[in-house]
Amino acid sequence: MTSVVYPGSFNPITNGHRDIVERALRLFDKVIVAVGTSPDKDPKTHLAERIGLCRLALAEFGDRVEVEGFNVLLVEYARAKNTRFVVRGLRTISDFDYEYQMIAMNQTMDPDLEYVLLPTSRQWSFLSSSLVREIAGLGGDISEFVPPAVAEHYRKSS
Ligand code: COA
Repeated sequence: MTSVVYPGSFNPITNGHRDIVERALRLFDKVIVAVGTSPDKDPKTHLAERIGLCRLALAEFGDRVEVEGFNVLLVEYARAKNTRFVVRGLRTISDFDYEYQMIAMNQTMDPDLEYVLLPTSRQWSFLSSSLVREIAGLGGDISEFVPPAVAEHYRKSS
């Protein structure tokens, strides 16, 4: 069985992330969604909450998707999960610059690591978690951008 790690902050998981999971499942038997915290990003949303929302949003994929928190180096995490594959979505050229830097650093630490970069589906190429948070924070409707469980969660907590 071939598995792939899909790391991110998922703050919150959006339709763009869900799309990457669905498409990664065409390439791999299992996707391990690894919920971390980017040091540059707003860590306000508790890790447990982000994990819980990912689990709800991805429940339809059953046991082909595992969701877990991680707070170690990605290279160490992938090794611990017995995989050498990492998948990430690419929205724009600026995403590529950022990913390329991370790939280079990670592959220097672990040359066995292989990255699969999937272009984000066109309809989600403008989407970002921080914009979703901003819209939700101002009482806007985010249901077009996130899986139903996430929209429901933000509706209840507003
Ligand atoms: N469609 C739409 N939007 C997408 C998307 C897609 N397919 N894929 C990503 N995005 C958006 C997200 O919504 C997010 O938006 P935001 O910037 O407004 O929050 C942004 O793109 C990227 O977020 P995400 O995919 O969640 O990843 P991240 O860049 O926040 O994650 C980690 C960073 C956790 C993967 C990284 O910090 C890491 O690997 N940490 C582990 C520690 C480590 O090994 N560090 C050394 C690195 S060299």
